Amino acid sequence: MTALHTHEPPRAATSWDPQLYLRFPEHRLRPALELLDRVRFDAPPSVVYDIGCGPGTITRLLTERFPGAEVHGVDSSADMLRTAAGTAPAAVLHQEDIGSWRPGRRPDLLFANSLFHLVPDHGAVLRRLAGDLAPRGALALQMPVFHHTPWFRLILRTLEDGGPGGAPLGPPELRAALSRVHTLDAAGYYGLLAGPDVEPDVWSTEYLHVLSGPDPVWSWVEAAGLRPVIDGLSAAEFGAFRSSYLDRLRAAYPSLPDGRTLFPFRRLFVVAHRH
Ligand SMILES: C[S@@+](CC[C@H](N)C(=O)[O-])C[C@H]1O[C@@H](n2cnc3c(N)ncnc32)[C@H](O)[C@@H]1O
Repeated sequence: MTALHTHEPPRAATSWDPQLYLRFPEHRLRPALELLDRVRFDAPPSVVYDIGCGPGTITRLLTERFPGAEVHGVDSSADMLRTAAGTAPAAVLHQEDIGSWRPGRRPDLLFANSLFHLVPDHGAVLRRLAGDLAPRGALALQMPVFHHTPWFRLILRTLEDGGPGGAPLGPPELRAALSRVHTLDAAGYYGLLAGPDVEPDVWSTEYLHVLSGPDPVWSWVEAAGLRPVIDGLSAAEFGAFRSSYLDRLRAAYPSLPDGRTLFPFRRLFVVAHRH
C-alpha cells in the first residue's frame, strides 16, 4: 500500500490534470527510458527518488527496474500524487515543493523527468541535491526545450493579440511568467554540476513525434505547456484564446494527407554520477 507523506503544504502552483498528462504515453515515456539507460551503478541502488513524479508512470518504472530499492515519489500536486498512488503502489509518496525539499535518506538515484523547466532558479536546488547524493550516487534530469518552438511562441502571440479588437488576453503577469526561461543550456548544466568527483554527461535529442487524431498538438500542450494559461485566464478569455490559438496551431502544424501530424520536440538530458 502506498504511503503519502506531507511535511509542509506546497505553495500555490500550476494545476495538473493527470488524465490529460497520460495521453501520448509512449512519446512521454521514451525520453525517461533513454535517460535511465545512461544511469550506471556498480551495485544495485538502495534509495531512489523520482522527483516531480507526476502520475507515477516513471516511479513505477523505477520500482520495476530496481526491485531491491526503496523508491520514493515526490511531487507538489495532490492530484498527480493521487494518480501515482494507484500507478506505483510499491513507492512511498511525498507531497513537497522541490524548491525546499530535502531527501529523508541519502539517495543513490535522484531522477527528475520533465521537472526542472518548471522550477525557477533551480541551479541552487540542483547543487544542493547533488551534494545530498550517496557516494557513487547519480542525479539524472530531462527537460523539454521549447521557448523557440511555434507552439510556445504562438501561446505568447495569442495572449498578446487574442482579445477583442486585438487586445491582450489575461494579466501582463501571465505573459511575463510564461516568457521566463528557467532552463540553462547544456554548458550551463555542465558548469553547475561538474566537480572533482562529478563529470556530467549532457546531451539533447530532438524527437519527431508523429501524432494522430484531431488537433493532436493542442491535446499535447493542453496537458503541460498550456497549464498556466488554463489557470490564468477566465472561462470567457480562455474560450477566445482557444479558438485563435487552435487556428494558428493548425497552420503551424498542418496534417499530412494521411491525417498524421509531425511534432518536433527537443529535450535536454543531464546525468551526473558521483565517483
Ligand atoms: C511534466 S510533469 C512530469 C511528471 C513525471 N515526472 C513524468 O515524467 O511523467 C511535471 C510534474 O512536476 C511537478 N512539479 C512542478 N513543480 C514542482 C515543484 N516545485 N515541486 C514538486 N513538484 C513539482 C508537477 O506537479 C508535475 O506533476
